[in-house]
Parts: sequence; structure tokens; C-alpha cells
Amino acid sequence: MQVSRQKIVVLGTGGTIAGTSAQPGDNIGYTAAQVGVEQLLGAVPGLEQAAGGARLLAEQVAQIDSKDMDMPVWQALALRCAGLLQDPEVQGVVITHGTDTLEETAWFLHLVLDTRAKPVVLTCAMRPASALTPDGPQNLLDAVAVAATPGACGVVSVAAGEVHGARHVQKVHPYRVNAFGSGDAGPLGWVEEGHVRLTQNWPPALDEKAPIAIEKIANSAAWPRVEIILNHAGASGAMVDALVRDGVQGLVVACTGNGTVHHALEAALIKAQDVGVRVVRSTRCPEGQVLPKPGDALPDSQGLSPVKARITLMLDLLAQ
Ligand code: SIN
Repeated sequence: MQVSRQKIVVLGTGGTIAGTSAQPGDNIGYTAAQVGVEQLLGAVPGLEQAAGGARLLAEQVAQIDSKDMDMPVWQALALRCAGLLQDPEVQGVVITHGTDTLEETAWFLHLVLDTRAKPVVLTCAMRPASALTPDGPQNLLDAVAVAATPGACGVVSVAAGEVHGARHVQKVHPYRVNAFGSGDAGPLGWVEEGHVRLTQNWPPALDEKAPIAIEKIANSAAWPRVEIILNHAGASGAMVDALVRDGVQGLVVACTGNGTVHHALEAALIKAQDVGVRVVRSTRCPEGQVLPKPGDALPDSQGLSPVKARITLMLDLLAQ
């Protein structure tokens, strides 16, 4: 029996898209996460048409500046998304989110949700809702259009007319409105006047570990502690030694270049690995990835940026 999908659910989590400032022309001195998601939807003309006949429903899952994103919010968001994706009436889920950690939430949701049949679309804004020219309304309209697109699946982000996949999307600019990129991979496509034009496939939509991860997340009060260490000129092993003493379970190194690490930091990392701490090398270069060599003492992140490698490692440790 064919089930007609009738709902697109918009989950609000805060961010600049829901921000307000005292002065309409102030694009940096605003407070994020002030306007409720229902009110945001109400301020966008044409949203019903963009939804292509599906009913739009709004739920406030959180109301935070995404710099403060944390495990309890991720837990609530993942569980709510998982429930909605199983509802036969739901066509897709849209999440309004701050730009600062959007790529982390996108990757986290990619790892824990089954989005083979329906999309989860994150959207955001670089200008607050009270700005002279807010970008949130158009982004929301485009995100709903993506969620309503037949065949859409996977976890994607939509902003400034671009569609990016969870694996590669990264905030690349702290101010301009088109603040996201996907590095070498490029965007999956664009939203133009409500139509999605893809130049790549929808992203692969099920990590093999997703079912285990979502169950663990539902039942975990504390998540494994994984920290990110930066390699730089003059780096030492002091922070690694301190973190190991403090009980860290995983370390991601934002390495220089092709996964290189200052010899003093490397010695501390190998010592940490020897006592059971999981260590992963990523690169601090904004594009490209670490190319592993035979005999590398420390494993690489398989192309993930440091923040995404951290999430993958955290979920790996959680699954153990
Ligand atoms: C945030 O990430 O919540 C604030 C910044 C933004 O959304 O642009």
C-alpha cells in the first residue's frame, strides 16, 4: 500500500536564524536563539507552496546559540528525528540551527539516523531575524523545498542557495552570507526558485553503525570524552599528558599538512595510544585529507575534519 506523505516537520534549535538585535543594522552584536521556530515559519511567505502540499509542523527542540551545542541537545534531536523518520506521514525533517556547529550536528545525525528514504535538512542564517536583510527566511524556504523534493534523502545543509552533504560541509567564513563550503567535493547542488538542481547524488544515507549508535545514545547518560589537539610550531606533549591523566578516552589531532605532528607531541600521542587512548590524525588544512603511509604509527581520520573525526571516534567508543 502506498502511504501518502503529508508532513514536513521543522525542528527549532536556535542560532542566528532565530536571533535578534536591538539595532536592525547590527549584524554582529545580536543575541542568537530568541525567536521561536513557529514564529520563524510564520514570517516566511510561500512556505506552504514550497512544501508542495505537505503540512508544515514546528517543534522547538532547543533554543541555543550553537557554540553551546552539547550532548543532551544532540541526544534529544537525534531521538526526535529518529521517531519522525519512522512516521509514514513524515516526508522530511528540517532543522533550524546556528551556523557555528551546524557541520558537527549534520555529521552526528548522519552517523546515527537512517535517512535512506527521507531527508534531514539543516538550515541556518548569518544575519539575525531582525536584520535589515535577514537571510534566514530564504534559507528556510529553500530547506523546505529540499525536504519536499521527491527522492531527497540523507543529511544535508541548505544555506545561501547551496545544498551540501553532511560529510564535507564546513563553515568557511565567519561573516559573509554564503558561509559554507564543501572543499574539494563542492556542493551537492543548488536551490533555484524552489527547484533543486543537483550535480552530485544525494549523500549516502546509512552508516552501518547507525542502528547501534542510536540505541546507545538513547541509553547513555555520559558520552566518551574525546578532545581535539592542534599541532603547531613549538607544540609539546604537555596537553596530551594532562588529558591522559584526566581520563580522556580519545584524542583527535588536527595535524599540520599531510598528518604531520611535532616530534614532542607525537611522542606523547604514541605514549597515550600505548596506554589505551584512541588517537586519530586529521589535518588542519581546510581542504584535502591525510593520505596514510605504510607504517604510520597513528591512524588517520579517513578524510574527516578534526571536529567530525571527534564525533566519529566518540560514537565508536560509545558502541564498544
Ligand atoms: C550560532 O551558531 O548559534 C550563532 C551563529 C550563527 O548562527 O551564525
